Amino acid sequence: MRQRLIVGNWKMFTTAAKARRLAADVVEELGSETRVRVALCPPVPYLGIVGEVLSGTAVALGAQNVYPENEGAFTGEIGINMLLDLRCRYVIVGHSERRHTLGEDDRFINRKVVAALAAGLEVIACVGETLEQRRKRQTRACLESQLISALSGLTAEQVRHVVVAYEPVWAIGTGVNATPEQAQESAAEIRELVKERFGEESARALLILDGGSVNATNAATLMHLPDMDGGLIGHASLEADQFLSIVRSSL
Ligand code: 13P
Repeated sequence: MRQRLIVGNWKMFTTAAKARRLAADVVEELGSETRVRVALCPPVPYLGIVGEVLSGTAVALGAQNVYPENEGAFTGEIGINMLLDLRCRYVIVGHSERRHTLGEDDRFINRKVVAALAAGLEVIACVGETLEQRRKRQTRACLESQLISALSGLTAEQVRHVVVAYEPVWAIGTGVNATPEQAQESAAEIRELVKERFGEESARALLILDGGSVNATNAATLMHLPDMDGGLIGHASLEADQFLSIVRSSL
């Protein structure tokens, strides 16, 4: 039985005060919750603040991005060692906002996956098709190429430290979530692709998260699809009540 995981991706939102308060509200309710795994991914400047609030609790800290080096002359970037220093457990890689708005390509994303895993981080690798790709029936091809590229060069053992988030681009921040049928179909394809490349055991253990307009109303259905193991939550993770309700509905 796979343990569910709910991750709050705060994107480029909150202030220091709001980040502290939001993390404290989550910890108050879920600080000792062990039935489901919960992680918060605040903006980089607030990783330290949120990390202090989460310290010693069951809620894990994650980063939204990383540069695939420990340190160096990479102005504006955040090194892998820095995430470890801040006690991050997770890092989101390949988010569509970084692919499409910031121009990250599959090769760069793969470098991040490889470097983060080598350092002992758990990677949340995002994949998802655009609306055009879905209309042209290229969803499976898109998921396959993004996934295979992101996981390129990994061993089956390393894949156990990867969580895949299925986030169709057209569902992110739009209020239009994937239907349960669409989400399940894509999650099953992702699991099948991992099985083909890395074997049955890796596929069975793989956590797959649904992302894109997941909220307190639709979460209960989406989180309990046969191949879905949780959610990567954007806007709804910025309100403690909504986020907590999503976590509760995953139980
Ligand atoms: P929304 O939940 O705001 O649609 O964002 C989803 C997402 O991109 C999470 O990474």
